[in-house]
Amino acid sequence: MSINRARLDRFISERCQINRKKVRLLLAQKRVSVDGIIATDISQAIDKFSVIMVDNKIIQQNKPLYIMLHKPVGVVCATTDEKHKTVIDLLGELLTAEEKASLHIVGRLDLNTSGLVLLTNDSRWSEQLTSPKSKVPKHYLVTLQNPLSNEYIQAFSNGMYFSYENITTKSVTLNILSQHQAEVTLTEGRYHQIKRMFGRFNNPVIALHRTSIGCYVLDEHLKTGKSKVISIKNNREEFWG
Ligand code: URA
Repeated sequence: MSINRARLDRFISERCQINRKKVRLLLAQKRVSVDGIIATDISQAIDKFSVIMVDNKIIQQNKPLYIMLHKPVGVVCATTDEKHKTVIDLLGELLTAEEKASLHIVGRLDLNTSGLVLLTNDSRWSEQLTSPKSKVPKHYLVTLQNPLSNEYIQAFSNGMYFSYENITTKSVTLNILSQHQAEVTLTEGRYHQIKRMFGRFNNPVIALHRTSIGCYVLDEHLKTGKSKVISIKNNREEFWG
């Protein structure tokens, strides 16, 4: 059983294949521990990363994993794909096969977008980062085919109506860096959002690169196609970057 949140008695019952009455007995006899502390409450909440022992034998011990990857163009943000290399294929020897299988992608990038991709097995962390309520800013460096003008700034800030989904995008910050380059900051992730927003000006995106997600900034020393294990920030202020 892979769990995000569960009751201790239910977890032990399923994992050890014993009925709840026997689980209650184990707890009463102080034979169960959660994160090194003897557990007695049948309804104690546990999660995927709680270390659970019965009679000093480990019955659950999952390590939270947080990976930063520098995605190249041409690699797909999926766990499997018949045609293209996936971000999981790029992890190489960094993790075991079992660890790789436990990962999910935190905010996908298109096939022809490069830059920062985060992967984890901790869905509470990824939900915090991707929930629309969190409004975590994501920064992108965009190269355009045609010259930019100040007109774009207001249009991006106002938000754009996409009839296909019947939504108006949240306000987007556009910082013009040069005639053909801009930094775009999104707080949501609509389908092909950046390309479609520039498409309104008939200005094709010729390169798109994500540089950060909240406080997680692509390490400038991490070469294209390479990945590394990172530690996460627990302080909410740091988290938003
Ligand atoms: N917007 C896009 O158009 N593509 C991406 O990969 C990310 C944002």
